[in-house]
Amino acid sequence: MKIKITMMNKKLSITKILKAKGEHPLTMITAYDALFAKLFDPIADIILVGDSLNMSFAGKADTLSATLEQMIYHTQAVCQGAENTFIIADMPFGTYVTPERALDNATRIFQESAADAVKIEGGEAKAETIAYLVDNGIAVCGHIGLLPQSVRGEGGYKVKGKTDAEATQLIADAKAVENAGAFCIVIEGVKADVATLVAKSVSVPVIGIGAGNGVDGQVLVFSDMLGLFEAFTPKFVKKYLNGADMVKEAVQNYKDEVESRRFPDEIHTY
Ligand code: KIV
Repeated sequence: MKIKITMMNKKLSITKILKAKGEHPLTMITAYDALFAKLFDPIADIILVGDSLNMSFAGKADTLSATLEQMIYHTQAVCQGAENTFIIADMPFGTYVTPERALDNATRIFQESAADAVKIEGGEAKAETIAYLVDNGIAVCGHIGLLPQSVRGEGGYKVKGKTDAEATQLIADAKAVENAGAFCIVIEGVKADVATLVAKSVSVPVIGIGAGNGVDGQVLVFSDMLGLFEAFTPKFVKKYLNGADMVKEAVQNYKDEVESRRFPDEIHTY
C-alpha cells in the first residue's frame, strides 16, 4: 500500500522548534522502543519517551513506578530507532525532587542515551529545578496542567483551567517555566480556551494533549492513537487506527492457519 508521508529534511534543533511557534503546529508522539520509533522517525517532529510507558507498555495503573533505569533503557531503544528526530525523555516520578538530584539523574539520561532533552512535570514549583538543569547544559521541556505523576496526591486525573484562579495559575506556571529556560511546554488536560491563553502568554511552543486546538502543537500517546491500548480511552484521544482489533484478527488468522496446517505453505518453506 502506498502512503503519503510528509518527509522532513532533518532533525529539528531547539532553534527550529522555537521558530515553529506561530509558523506551524508541531507534531509530537510517544514511542517506547526502536520498532515504533523507526516508523515515526520520518514523520514526527518530536518523539517523547513518556513515562506513560509504565501504563501502556508495562501494564501498571499509573506512571509513578517507572524507574530511571527503565526510562534510560527505553530512551536508548527509541534513540536507536529514530536517529533523525528530536527526542525528549521523561524524568520519572521522584527523580527531580531537588535541583541537585534532578541534575544527577538528567545527567545520567544524557550520558547513557542520545536524548536531546528531558521533560519535567510542574510549573512555578519546578522553575528553580528547570533553571538549574538548563544552566548545566540540559535542555528541558516543561509539563503543566494535569500532571499524571500527581494522580495519587490529587486523588485522580483532574482537568485544569475550570476556574479563573486555575487559569491564572496556569499562565503563571507557563511563564515561570519559560523564564527558567524551558524550550517548550507540554500542557495536559486543560480547558481549550484557557490553554489557548496560556500558549499566547509565552514565546516558547506549547504542545497540547487534551488541551484543544489553540496551542502550538499536539502530542498523543502512540498506543492510544493507534487504538492498541484498550484499558480506557480518554475523551481527547482520537484513534487513527483500530490497532487492537487488527492485531487480534491477524493473530487469530495465524492460529487458524496453524491449526488447519495451512501455515507454513510452500512459499514460506525452505
Ligand atoms: O508520559 C507521557 O506520555 C506524557 C504525555 C501524556 C505528554 O507525558
